[in-house]
Amino acid sequence: MRTVYLNGAYLPETEAKVSVFDRGFLMADGVYEVTSVLGGKLIDFPGHAKRLARSLSELNMRAPDAMGDLLEIHREMVTRNNLTDGLIYLQVTRGNPGDRDFHYPPAGTAPTLVLFTQSKPGFAHAPLAQRGARVISVLDLRWGRRDIKTVQLLYPSMAKMMAQAAGVDDAWMIQDGHVTEGTSNNAYIVKDGRIITRALSHDILHGITRAAVLRFADEAQMRIEERSFTLDEALNADEAFFTSASAFVMPVVEIDGTALRGGTPGPVATRLREVYIEESLKSAI
Ligand code: PDD
Repeated sequence: MRTVYLNGAYLPETEAKVSVFDRGFLMADGVYEVTSVLGGKLIDFPGHAKRLARSLSELNMRAPDAMGDLLEIHREMVTRNNLTDGLIYLQVTRGNPGDRDFHYPPAGTAPTLVLFTQSKPGFAHAPLAQRGARVISVLDLRWGRRDIKTVQLLYPSMAKMMAQAAGVDDAWMIQDGHVTEGTSNNAYIVKDGRIITRALSHDILHGITRAAVLRFADEAQMRIEERSFTLDEALNADEAFFTSASAFVMPVVEIDGTALRGGTPGPVATRLREVYIEESLKSAI
């Protein structure tokens, strides 16, 4: 049985309980982070902690008292759950005001802080990364502040189900003919040696993996264009891939039934995946 963290206590997962009045449950009034763990160490932890602080501040949500202890809590979760490879999920909600009300609760209401682990042995060597992911395009019907990592994940869940129904691995979301991002990852294409990915704005999540991958690509003197690209450009790209804390760098080999590079992972995505995993292991804590 897993040990989870709830508001200062480490508890068996069956004993961790949150109120039915919790704003996370009633209003999706919560933010989250997913940090990957490889070899028992946290990947890109400072980036995730910084983005969490930003999400909270954008929503005027009180930070948990344990905000300064998050690294220690993450490490404790790794130890107590014997986690070698996998993910640590963290969620903060606006807490339990004791009733349902659209207005934010009084300032003194304590936020709810939850962490749990998901074990994924050897997930850095996922077979999908060798084969490459197949995606479909779907309309992006999410709200306008996708830069805040909220737990309102119903539309991304619907899009994953559309992908599953279409027999593929994931979906890329389209707004005004341009790709915003994947259901739970940032999207990229490669054309004539240039890596193209949407610039940061309210339209997409500011991926921690994205930041690291672009830094490594830049250090390797690869050409990067931060701009939006159309679905049509993606269908005619030399390569495509996506990034996230759970998928690292994932080659995309098919979009809406159109194979890229004859349906095999491209050299840029493959190289960036290797570099990302190698370099982030070096800085893992
Ligand atoms: N998802 N875009 C969206 C919409 C995401 O949900 C995520 C992450 C990303 C990639 O961000 P990062 O590189 O910081 O993981 C981009 C996480 C993994 C999830 O929901 O499970």
